[in-house]
Amino acid sequence: MGVTIPKHVAIIMDGNGRWAKKRNLPRFMGHRAGAGKIREIADACIGKNVEILTLWAFSTENWGRPAEEVAYLMKLFSVYIKRAQKELMEHNVQFRVIGDREKLNPKLQRLIEQTEQKTLNNAGLKLVIALNYSGRWDITQAMQKLAKQVLAKQLKPEDITTETIQAVLCLADLSEPDLFIRPGGEQRISNYLLWQLAYTELYFTEVFWPDFNAIELEKALQFYATRERRFGLTSEQLEKS
Ligand code: IPE
Ligand code: IPE
Ligand code: MG
Repeated sequence: MGVTIPKHVAIIMDGNGRWAKKRNLPRFMGHRAGAGKIREIADACIGKNVEILTLWAFSTENWGRPAEEVAYLMKLFSVYIKRAQKELMEHNVQFRVIGDREKLNPKLQRLIEQTEQKTLNNAGLKLVIALNYSGRWDITQAMQKLAKQVLAKQLKPEDITTETIQAVLCLADLSEPDLFIRPGGEQRISNYLLWQLAYTELYFTEVFWPDFNAIELEKALQFYATRERRFGLTSEQLEKS
């Protein structure tokens, strides 16, 4: 049996705080260790011919955390993105951010834009970072775009279809995630890619994100390879096609 590799892998990078707590360390050290794993997982994905890797770094709900933790995370994103630029180019990785950027500080916004521009023509892995992202925010901003089109008489309400909605969501130009991975032990979506995960295979593991590595990724890929994706059809139909 040939092993099927998912084209798009979406991960919730969860468990940083508990990883730190277990070691009697402050939470921020868990975040730092977690950021340090991105490179290993991106490299492993490149090695496996995964085309798109979408990583959730910060949710719209995470603003509610203690101010010092939020401030540390924002600083970490800036430092991390700045440092990653060279390696992104060396590995031919296209970098993108999805989420509500307007609430990020202007300096971080400029750094994101600059990094996206710089890596725009890289044809290797597409690395998407979800930053100040949530699934409900995504659907809401999509509805606002469609409402504007209707007001401008560019679109009739009856012409709104799953395709026109899909076209104004984040990740519109990319295929939907095939495999979702949540380390950290929680078995929930927590407002991640709600629309886009409709038919995604879901994999959960107790391992905290800072301990997640190429071996753990391999386990998730093996799980994925055993799934039969039916998209509402029957097994018999799939066998025939
Ligand atoms: C994920 O790790 C990182 C962010 C949400 C920014 P957590 O900080 O949620 O770690 P736990 O869940 O408390 O262990
Ligand atoms: C989801 O994790 C957000 C990120 C990892 C960026 P949370 O830790 O915020 O989710 P809950 O609160 O456990 O659902
Ligand atoms: Mg968490």
